[in-house]
Amino acid sequence: MASVAADDRAIAPVDISREALYVEDRWHEPFARMRKDMPVSWCPDSPYGPYWSVVTHDLVGKVELDHETYSSSWQNGNITITTPPPESNLPNFIAADPPVHTAQRKVIQPAFAPSQMKTREQQVRERCAYLLDRLPVGETFDWVTQVSIPQTMGMLCIIFDMDPDAETDDLKRWSDFASGVGENNQTDEYRAEWMAQMQAMLARFDQLLDERRAAPPSDDLLSRMVHSEAMGSLSPMERLANIALLIVGGNDTTRNSISGLVEALDLFPDQLDALHEDPALIPNAAQEIIRWQSPVTHMRRTTTCDTQLNGQQIPAGEKVVLWYISANRDDTVFPDADRFDVARGNARRHLAFGHGIHRCVGARLAEIQIATVIEEIVARGWRIAPQGKPTRLASPFLHGFTEMPVKLEKRG
Ligand code: HEM
Repeated sequence: MASVAADDRAIAPVDISREALYVEDRWHEPFARMRKDMPVSWCPDSPYGPYWSVVTHDLVGKVELDHETYSSSWQNGNITITTPPPESNLPNFIAADPPVHTAQRKVIQPAFAPSQMKTREQQVRERCAYLLDRLPVGETFDWVTQVSIPQTMGMLCIIFDMDPDAETDDLKRWSDFASGVGENNQTDEYRAEWMAQMQAMLARFDQLLDERRAAPPSDDLLSRMVHSEAMGSLSPMERLANIALLIVGGNDTTRNSISGLVEALDLFPDQLDALHEDPALIPNAAQEIIRWQSPVTHMRRTTTCDTQLNGQQIPAGEKVVLWYISANRDDTVFPDADRFDVARGNARRHLAFGHGIHRCVGARLAEIQIATVIEEIVARGWRIAPQGKPTRLASPFLHGFTEMPVKLEKRG
């Protein structure tokens, strides 16, 4: 196929990778315009270089299902819009294509199977009750650091057999470094600190993996890794990358949905009433908050060959960004999509977990955690009243909050 002249491309009206759009919560309008006028568009210049954007539900889903044309492999590019320096590339299975992806995912997935999650449900509830019972009712506190982070990090500690009280801070710091949240990851100082943090993380996890190696195989996540053919003898960099994947995957995402819940219930107070009237809606409310909040703004693919999408010619080797945050607000699939509606019939059709071979393996764990937080709030008869504006993450990749001052009130 002939190469494509730049002026034949649909040029995006806005560079939607700009952090300001997310920090200032101004992303809705540009995405709505692009869904209507330009579902596939080219941004020739951005802080992350040129990139394609796909913004509608059907086209994001279509690209996700064609993993041969649209590669996730770190060897072809990155899985986010950023292009990290080569030494920061994380060769984990989310950043791999088949057959490596297939073999490694097969090792991890059973640890998140519905049968395993049944036994986690009780631990999630205990962790949630433990945290909520300690909140200072009637005083202002930060929901992010007192609920969202310790709930999700605590569960990860439990899954890895770490101490949730002593090790949550370490895990959070490693997760933030691994995902590069809020940092200028181009400076030498940052890269040196990144390396030091990743080495500390690997050292701790190598201890845990060695303990599992010395014990008989079990269904435990780390045990499955060390005793498997596909993941039993990974290089240090591959071990680090896969641990980072599990921590970042399980942390920033669910954390931001639990924070987003507060914002949604504040903007749509009738939805809290609806949950009180019919608690059977809670599992659907968990799906709806994941759709409405979309904690992972996008994933990125790289084309392996020249291709065509919605009339646009995309040459091989280009960045294609799949904007879940936009697909989940697509009115053609979700009527009145900006509304948070706990009874929405098709909330489950959201693309926040991705779609196709890389669909989130931790989805069920995330859903259980979010539904449990909702159940416990409803059971306590609380209204969570924001005290001022939340502080939003400066990231075009993770959509969420760094601070959210709130006060717990009894529902009137
Ligand atoms: C993959 C979102 C929770 C672990 C993914 C992907 C997305 C995502 C968008 C990539 C899909 C793609 O490329 O097509 C989310 C959201 C969550 C969440 C929105 C919470 C609301 C979790 C949890 C864990 C986890 C709790 C584990 C503890 C993973 C892993 C992958 C993944 C290991 C890689 C799957 C693969 O490449 O086959 N997730 N995630 N995630 N997620 Fe999650």
